[in-house]
Amino acid sequence: DKGNHRHFMEKEIHEQPEVISHALSAYIDFIENKVSPAATAIDFSRVPSLAISACGTAYLAGLIGKYWFERYARLPVEADVASEFRYRNIPLPKEAAAFFISQSGETADTLASLRYCRENGLAIGAVVNARESTIARESDAIFPILAGPEIGVASTKAFTCQLTVLAAMAIGAGRMRGTVSETEEQALVRHLVEMPRLMAGVLKSVQPQVEGLARDLSRCRDVLYLGRGTSFPLAMEGALKLKEISYIHAEGYAAGELKHGPIALIDENMPVIVIAPFDRFFEKTVSNMQEAAARGGRIVLITDTKGAAACGDLQTMATILLPDVDELIQPMIFSLPIQLLAYHTAVFMGTDVDQPRNLAKSVTVE
Ligand code: M6R
Repeated sequence: DKGNHRHFMEKEIHEQPEVISHALSAYIDFIENKVSPAATAIDFSRVPSLAISACGTAYLAGLIGKYWFERYARLPVEADVASEFRYRNIPLPKEAAAFFISQSGETADTLASLRYCRENGLAIGAVVNARESTIARESDAIFPILAGPEIGVASTKAFTCQLTVLAAMAIGAGRMRGTVSETEEQALVRHLVEMPRLMAGVLKSVQPQVEGLARDLSRCRDVLYLGRGTSFPLAMEGALKLKEISYIHAEGYAAGELKHGPIALIDENMPVIVIAPFDRFFEKTVSNMQEAAARGGRIVLITDTKGAAACGDLQTMATILLPDVDELIQPMIFSLPIQLLAYHTAVFMGTDVDQPRNLAKSVTVE
């Protein structure tokens, strides 16, 4: 049931504050402000490295997870799309752990990667929405994302729930490995706990502006998304979402890669969506944005209050303003305008938003 929403995708976007609350209640101890044992069902203190394998949006969640596990738990992480991972013959230490992220729990390539890791003796963790799935059944530890059924082919709430669970796991891993102190854990957990309220605010505040912008995007042939740090996988997620449902060609790039190729594409017909929270990379990303603007690219800046202030009177096609939040939760908060932008663009184009052409919700063939 879509309730009073036009599409399941719209409903699922707006459900995020609620489902993230569910996910948090399973992985967070709200009284102690700590990560619950559910987040550390794998003994991270002993593993030398982590391997993450998944497809599509789940893979992009895994890439963000990689940044977190490296930063907070100081664990080396290998993250790859499952269709490459399974064939690469990766030398993996058998003491390592491997995670498979999948909404459906049935994706053929992800399952094949899991079996490869199992044969090699790794500890297997499944970050899944469907608990009764093959991937869940074949794992040593299950990390349910608790997003509830996701009907829209374009993944939205499963993505932010995957991120929430991965964030809790990375903090838990950091505690086990002694790289996150108790005080740091409490501070990080407090940021996670703020998410539902912040998300509800953002869903309301950006709506009118995003709709206006979507009208402009629906007339474009190509769109470039840029980001640095965890905003880089998010840039790829933004591009994936837009192409899936609006059929507009989009690319997501690491901001620093702009001058290594994609800058050649930029002219006055090319919107460049820059995901730039005011983090330690902000200045670098802004300088990439200025390079794009100098070539006539129409800039859509997605930033926060501090970022907007630091930019001064920069000319943009639009600036989407989000609240200032801790670096840990930026990917979840910044996902929202990105999802809404893809959604409303597709609505303007009149495509079948919930069942875009050529795509299936669950990809059980290789
Ligand atoms: O069920 P899974 O999470 O394993 O599916 C993986 C991808 O097929 C999926 O995320 C796909 O990329 C979505 N359509 C993205 O919106």
